[in-house]
Amino acid sequence: MKQEDLLALLNDMTPEEKIMQLVQLPGSAFESDFAVTGIADEASFDKLKKLAGSVLGIRGAEKVKAIQDEYMAGQPHHIPLLFMLDVIHGHDTVFPCPLGQGATFEPEISRKGAEIQAKEAAADGIQVTFSPMVDLVRDARWGRVMESTGEDPYLNGEMASAMVRGYQGESVADKEHVAACVKHFAGYGASEAGRDYNSVELSEYTLRDQYLKGYDKAISAGAKLVMTSFNTLNGIPSSGNKWLMRDILRKEMNFDGVLISDWGAIGEMVPWGFARDLKEAAKLAIEAGVDIDMCTESYAANLASLIEEGKVDGKLLDEAVLRILNLKNEIGLFEDPYHGASKERYEAVTFSKESREIARDAVRKSLVLLKNDEETLPLKDSNIALIGPYASCKNLHSSWALSLDPEKTVTVMEAAGESKDVSLFLGMNQGGGLGGLNKKIVRVAKGSTILDNDTVLGFGEYHNESLDEENEKLLNEAIEVAEWADTVVLCLGEDIGQSGESTSRTNIMLPDIQMELFYEIRRRAKKLVTLIFTGRPLDLECIPDLSDALLICWRPGTEGGHGIWDVLSGKFSPSGKLPMSFPWAVGQAPIHYNVFATGRPKPTEGVTNFTTRYLDCPNEARYPFGYGLTYSSFDISKPVSDNDVLKKGENATGADKINVTVKVTNTGVVAATQTVQLYIRDLVSSRVRPVKELKGFKKVRLLPGESKDVSFEINEEMLRFWTINNKFESEEGDFRVYVGFDSTTENFYDFKLS
Ligand code: GLC
Repeated sequence: MKQEDLLALLNDMTPEEKIMQLVQLPGSAFESDFAVTGIADEASFDKLKKLAGSVLGIRGAEKVKAIQDEYMAGQPHHIPLLFMLDVIHGHDTVFPCPLGQGATFEPEISRKGAEIQAKEAAADGIQVTFSPMVDLVRDARWGRVMESTGEDPYLNGEMASAMVRGYQGESVADKEHVAACVKHFAGYGASEAGRDYNSVELSEYTLRDQYLKGYDKAISAGAKLVMTSFNTLNGIPSSGNKWLMRDILRKEMNFDGVLISDWGAIGEMVPWGFARDLKEAAKLAIEAGVDIDMCTESYAANLASLIEEGKVDGKLLDEAVLRILNLKNEIGLFEDPYHGASKERYEAVTFSKESREIARDAVRKSLVLLKNDEETLPLKDSNIALIGPYASCKNLHSSWALSLDPEKTVTVMEAAGESKDVSLFLGMNQGGGLGGLNKKIVRVAKGSTILDNDTVLGFGEYHNESLDEENEKLLNEAIEVAEWADTVVLCLGEDIGQSGESTSRTNIMLPDIQMELFYEIRRRAKKLVTLIFTGRPLDLECIPDLSDALLICWRPGTEGGHGIWDVLSGKFSPSGKLPMSFPWAVGQAPIHYNVFATGRPKPTEGVTNFTTRYLDCPNEARYPFGYGLTYSSFDISKPVSDNDVLKKGENATGADKINVTVKVTNTGVVAATQTVQLYIRDLVSSRVRPVKELKGFKKVRLLPGESKDVSFEINEEMLRFWTINNKFESEEGDFRVYVGFDSTTENFYDFKLS
C-alpha cells in the first residue's frame, strides 16, 4: 500500500478502531493455549478480539489463516492482524541458546540460525519475533542471561545485528523472513540482585558506555520493533520513560519503528507506584511513545477518555497507529495477510537436512572446553561410559523453545549410537564385548535425576521428579558402568526450568543429587570427562578440579547430541570461548572482565591488605570472558604495528588508522580454530575506563605447524567513550592494545592518539 493510502486509511478510522490497533492480545483470546494474564475480564476479549491490532502466541499456518480470515472480515477497514511469537533460538529446528551462540564468537552462525528460524516461523504463520534479546549481562543469578549473548557490548552488538539481518533479510515482505524486535529496552540485565522484574540503577555513563551499545547496533541493523523492559531505570519504569524512549531511542538512535511494551508492563506502572491507576499508566506510556500495549487493557479502556478529556493529544494516537500500519505494510500484509504461510510451505521447510546441519555446526562451535588434562579428549579408549541425567535427555533446548518437538532432539546417547565405530549398550547390558580396532563400546546409565525433590522451577513448574528408590537404583547402575569403563563421560546440568524468565537463583550450583552422583563416579572413574548443560555460568564447585576434562554445552538444542559427539569423538576440535565469566562463587556476582582498575588494584603477588579484594575469594573469574581451549595449542607473537601514533583531528600528525598484527601458530598436532581477540585500554581519561574492552575478534583455523598473520585495524572512532563532556568522543593520550586468546592476555602494544 502506498504511504498516501495508509494516511487516507488512518484518517478514515474511528477513534475506537485506532485505539484497538494498539492492543495486543494473548493467543488465548483466539484459543485456549496460553494462560490469560494482564487482561482482567475475559468477557472484554469479545470486543477486543474483533479489533485488536496484534496477537501474541499463535502458531500454525492453517490456524493463523483461519483467524486472519475471520478477523479481517469483521475489521471495519479489513486491516490485517499481526501475529507475533518468541522465536529466540529456534522455531522447530532449535539452535544453541543465545548465550551458547555468543560462545561461537561467529556472528554468521547467528545470522544463519535466525534465517532458518524465520523461514520456519514465517511458513507457520508468524510475522514478528521477539528477538534478539540484547541485554548486557553480568549476573549469573539472573536466569535470563541464557537469552543474552553475554557480558560484552561489542560481542552483543555483533551477534544481535547478525540476528536482525538473519530474521529480516533484505525485506521483511519476503515470505521467508519476519520482523525482528530488539529487547528489553533498556538495561534489564542489570536488575538489582539478579532478580527478574527488579529495579535498575545505572549512571548515564555506564548506561551509555556499556548497556546501550548492543541495542544501538541491532537497531542500526534495521530492527523493525523494540520492546520496553520490565525494570525501572533510575526510578522510572521503561514503559513510561519519555527520556529513554523518545530522546534516546527515537531521536539519538534514530528508531522510527514500532515500540511494544513487554507483557503487562504498562499496567505494572501501577504496582511500581509510578501510576495511580491504569488510566494514568496509559497516559504515561503513550506519551513515552509506546505503540503497542502487550496484554493489558490499559490502552483499550482508557485512551479514548484521555483524548476526549484533553489529557492526551490525539496526535500521539495517530503517530502510534501509523507506525503499526507502516509495519503491517512493510511486511506486505495488506497484499498478503498470510505473509506466505501455508501448511505446504511449512512442511517443505521445517527440520530440513540443511537446517539441521547448520544447527549441528552451531552446536560444535558453541562448546567451550575449559579443561583437558593429558589430552583426555577426544575420546581414545574403547570402553566408554556415558553417565548422567543429560546422557539421554531430550530437553536440550531452553524454556523459550515454545514450539519445539523434543522428540526431534538428538541426545548424546543417540549420537554416540549412530556412530559407526560405536556399539551402544544401555545400563547393565554390556553386550558381547564388540571391542576391536577403533571400535568403542559405549554403555549408558542415567545415574540420577536432574533435580532433587521439591526443587522450584521457573514458570511455576514444580518438579517432584526424583524418587529415592529410583535414585538408589540409578546410582548403583551408574557405579557399575563407571567401574567397567576406561573413560567416563558424565553429563550433568541445570534443569530446563532453571534458566530463562522468572528463574533467578541465589545458589548457582548444580542440584545436590547430581553432585552426589559426581562424587560417586569420580571415585570410580579412571578418566572423567564432565559435560555441563546450562543456561548460565554456574558455580562449578570442585567439578573442574576433579574432572580430567570439562566441556560447557549450554542448552544446545535440536542437534545437541550430534554436535557434542562430533567434538567428543575428535571429528571436530572445540573452539568456543566464554561470552560470560564463570565465577568462583555466586558472591562475586555481578562479575565481568571489563572492570575499572580502582585506586587500589590488588597486586598479582605480595601483600594485598588494603587493596580491592575479598578475604575468601579471588577478584577474578574462575574462567574469564573469551576463554576456551581447543584440541591443539597455539602461540602468538608480540603485536607489531605500522604506526605508534593515531591522529585525532584533521590537522594532527599521525596515521588515520593503525594496523596491529600478530603471528598465530598452531603448535599442536591437530587442526583447530583459535579466536584472536583485540582489546584496548585508554590509560588516562576524563572518566576512568575499563582495564580492557573488546574491540575486535577474528577466528583463524590452522593446520598443525601452520602460522598466519592476523591483523586488526584501529581507528579513532574505536576510542570514543562518554566523556566528562557528556558526549561520545575520543581523548588524546596513551592507549594499550592487547591481542590474545582471552581477556586475561598481557600481550600488548602501546600507541598514542594525538
Ligand atoms: C515475556 C518476556 C519477553 C517476551 C514477552 C512475550 O514476559 O519478558 O522477553 O518476549 O513476554 O512472550
